[in-house]
Amino acid sequence: MTKGHVHKLEISDLSLELDGRTILDGISLDIHHGETVCILGGSGAGKSMLLRTIVRLHEPTKGRILLDGEPVTAMDPSTLRRRVSLVQQSPAMLEGTVEDNLRFGLELAGIEPGVIKERIDASLKAAALDEGFLGRRAEKLSGGERQRVAIARAHTLCPEVFLLDEPTAALDPRRMMEVERAIKGLKGDANFMMIIVTHDVEQARRLGDRTVLMRRGRIIAEGDSGSLIEDLDPEERALYMGELVYMEHEHKEGDLNE
Ligand SMILES: Nc1ncnc2c1ncn2[C@@H]1O[C@H](COP(=O)(O)OP(=O)(O)O)[C@@H](O)[C@H]1O
Ligand SMILES: [Mg+2]
Repeated sequence: MTKGHVHKLEISDLSLELDGRTILDGISLDIHHGETVCILGGSGAGKSMLLRTIVRLHEPTKGRILLDGEPVTAMDPSTLRRRVSLVQQSPAMLEGTVEDNLRFGLELAGIEPGVIKERIDASLKAAALDEGFLGRRAEKLSGGERQRVAIARAHTLCPEVFLLDEPTAALDPRRMMEVERAIKGLKGDANFMMIIVTHDVEQARRLGDRTVLMRRGRIIAEGDSGSLIEDLDPEERALYMGELVYMEHEHKEGDLNE
């Protein structure tokens, strides 16, 4: 299928307040077609809320989010969410098989029946899953498998922007690598841009062309995934690494904003 794609996602001076609390505070970030940006930060930094605000699950208090110059607030939410696909941290599966899960969105989007199977196969392949997955019961999948199916499911609708929220949180190293392989598979075709939220410095290095560090609703540094952390001043770096490690141990229950 040929279609246009977003050249630029532009977030400017974005703030979000909820119940009188500042959740996002003056976020500015530009992402270009073909690029993968990792957002790295400890628990409560605002990473998930940023992704959710991009797809209008929350309306910004201030600032703008533009897709090729068009404010997302001017777009119909369902059209926006087809163009910008958010894969949540614990993706929900519909009852039925993996194939049912992949088919559902395509049918809903009115894709011709003749094309559906082709799209499903292409998405399986893109997410490095083999055909054997199609007949599996979705509710019986392991966490890592579910995550990979969720990635394939998002891919079926050819989004122009992929947002992945902690795609490997709570997975063991082998399963984490399988999910990363699925993500790299997606990057291979790269007719889109991707934002991956993580609290894993090494993962940001492996997957990101660029990394953004978030803390308390703000972006505190931005740059090359390889060198970003080293470039922080020592105190900031120690604090930062501590928060990320803390997050691992607390299993994301902590909230560093409190
Ligand atoms: N629905 C909500 N209403 C109000 N505050 C929220 C809501 N969801 C999250 N928060 C708060 O927003 C802040 C950022 O949360 P979140 O984006 O989930 O952090 P992260 O994903 O970086 O761990 C936290 O202080 C959290 O308590
Ligand atoms: Mg989160």
